[in-house]
Amino acid sequence: METIEKKQTAIMDSELSEQIKAATKDSHVRAENTELMLSYQRGRVSLRQYQLLLCSLYKIYEALEDALDTNASHEAVAPIYFPQELARLESIGKDLEYFYGQSWREKLTVPDATLRYAQRLREVGRDHPEYLVAHAYTRYLGDLSGGQVLGRITQKSLGLKNGEGLSFFSFPGVSSPNLFKQLYRSRMNSVELTEEQRHGVLREAVTAFELNIQMMKRLKRSRAPRP
Ligand code: HEM
Repeated sequence: METIEKKQTAIMDSELSEQIKAATKDSHVRAENTELMLSYQRGRVSLRQYQLLLCSLYKIYEALEDALDTNASHEAVAPIYFPQELARLESIGKDLEYFYGQSWREKLTVPDATLRYAQRLREVGRDHPEYLVAHAYTRYLGDLSGGQVLGRITQKSLGLKNGEGLSFFSFPGVSSPNLFKQLYRSRMNSVELTEEQRHGVLREAVTAFELNIQMMKRLKRSRAPRP
């Protein structure tokens, strides 16, 4: 039987994309099993819940994409910087405008857990740009994976037509999510990190999942603003 030490050595010998997936495997199961994600998977998402999720995602991607743009030429960010293909902020803004009209910015409502997540993203952008890969991975590869299924469920459950209110899930610059994910993983693997930085990135990825879990738990209990 494999010992934990052997398993850990095997993980540390592999590439960043495999290490990060292994390090966040349990966190992913926990994220999938939050009440909000479970109601999603059962097709029981309400319009209010979706609107509230969009408000929080706006704040998260605002902080994430600002940190990525600011550090675009940093050596640990440049290889995984894909604004054309991945940037979500404008898409989420479009969805919020669809639901709330022109004055959507005044209607944004977010719980403390979302503000804490955005705060961490700002800290990382300022003090540890090499950890941004952990945050970009957690959000963008998630959006290109399970997120695609969630998009179809949202469309069906809420009866949204012609992609209206669903821009967040749509990646016009990515023709094949699977191929793009492969490219993204190979770019992650090309980032040069010291052993200490690598450990830091893996820890940060677990933190990124935890921040998402806390945000989703809080969102499940919140009430969305009325349009
Ligand atoms: C209903 C909830 C969810 C479902 C059904 C789901 C499902 C999936 C599936 C099927 C994959 C593809 C696995 C593979 O290619 O091997 C995946 C990957 C991923 N998911 Fe999720 N997911 C959910 C929630 C989340 C959440 C909340 C996050 C984080 C915010 C997340 C982050 C990721 C990431 C980062 C990957 C890429 C894993 C990798 O290839 O390294 N997922 N998810």
